[in-house]
Amino acid sequence: MIKENKKTVFSGVQPSGDLHLGNYLGAILQWAEMQDKYSCIFCVVDYHAITVRQDPAVLRDRIIETAKMYLAAGINPEKSVIFQQSDVSAHAELAWILNCSARIADLNKMTQFKEKAGKNQETVTVGLYDYPVLMAADILLYNTDAVPVGEDQIQHVELCRDLAQRFNRQFGETFKIPELVIKEEAARIMGLDDPAKKMSKSAASPANYIALADKPEEAAKKIIKAVTDSGKEIIFNKDNKPAISNLLTIYSLLSDESIKDLEKRYRGRGYGEFKEDLAEVVKEFLTDFQERLYKIKDSDVKDILRAGAEKVRPIAEETLSRVKERVGIK
Ligand code: TYM
Repeated sequence: MIKENKKTVFSGVQPSGDLHLGNYLGAILQWAEMQDKYSCIFCVVDYHAITVRQDPAVLRDRIIETAKMYLAAGINPEKSVIFQQSDVSAHAELAWILNCSARIADLNKMTQFKEKAGKNQETVTVGLYDYPVLMAADILLYNTDAVPVGEDQIQHVELCRDLAQRFNRQFGETFKIPELVIKEEAARIMGLDDPAKKMSKSAASPANYIALADKPEEAAKKIIKAVTDSGKEIIFNKDNKPAISNLLTIYSLLSDESIKDLEKRYRGRGYGEFKEDLAEVVKEFLTDFQERLYKIKDSDVKDILRAGAEKVRPIAEETLSRVKERVGIK
């Protein structure tokens, strides 16, 4: 399973809200595509989720749901490892050690923290502030070569690289420096209600996103109601037509038809017709996805997560042990 000679991919999603098309197209779909070429490790990052308040019973369910989404999206546990972050305690331990070389100035630059904390910078948790360091620990524990993520995580992966390089300089060669992998066209799926903001689990209105668990009929309605731009041409132009460009992106990624072909097909036709067709595409995608999703049993997921943690724990422990030696606590 941890394939010799293959480069290692690591990525994760927080089980903290409704997983949506942005998570799927920006991250999980590319994970599925990478499985044959790489040795892949996909994590349900529950320690990240508790950086904001969670209802314990809901969180417990969401951890299982998130792993099911990975499976329904085509992550194959025979090829890739799926595990729950808190099942491998080395994540928290390495995060602590990295905390002791990460600087306040590093974290003060993180735009996602600033956005999430907003005006509440003094009252949000220390965990939320520190979350990029935990993310760095996740990645570095597995000698990761490549980290496929959406655009909002670029800064965090860059911080991870900086922390690893700094540690290597201070204590000697310890960590492999991971590369960022971005699927450009899918890296920033925007909100359906506001194409100036990204599609987000924590959006104020469910009209912002298509959740992977939305009823297909309801999702279709969200597409019909999605904000459009002025004019009526269906052309891709992020600056002048952000809403239509976003819908074209979603259409193209779900149907495997190029944006150029879609533009040609809808030349001279209005937004109404275009949205009707996209609504159908989304409905079909969700119907198929959910057919797979609802077949997966909780007990099977628990087995997969347990087996996944067992497989990766030795790698994580070996890295942690090397790090402890380097800093002089072992
Ligand atoms: P999270 O849970 O916020 O998002 C999971 C993945 O989905 C991508 N994404 C998007 N992509 C395109 N368009 C969007 N609108 C959109 N919204 C979200 C995110 O970029 C991400 O790839 N900190 C991470 C999870 C994490 C992690 C890691 C990732 C923890 N440790 C180690 C990689 C490696 C997070 O909160 O992602």
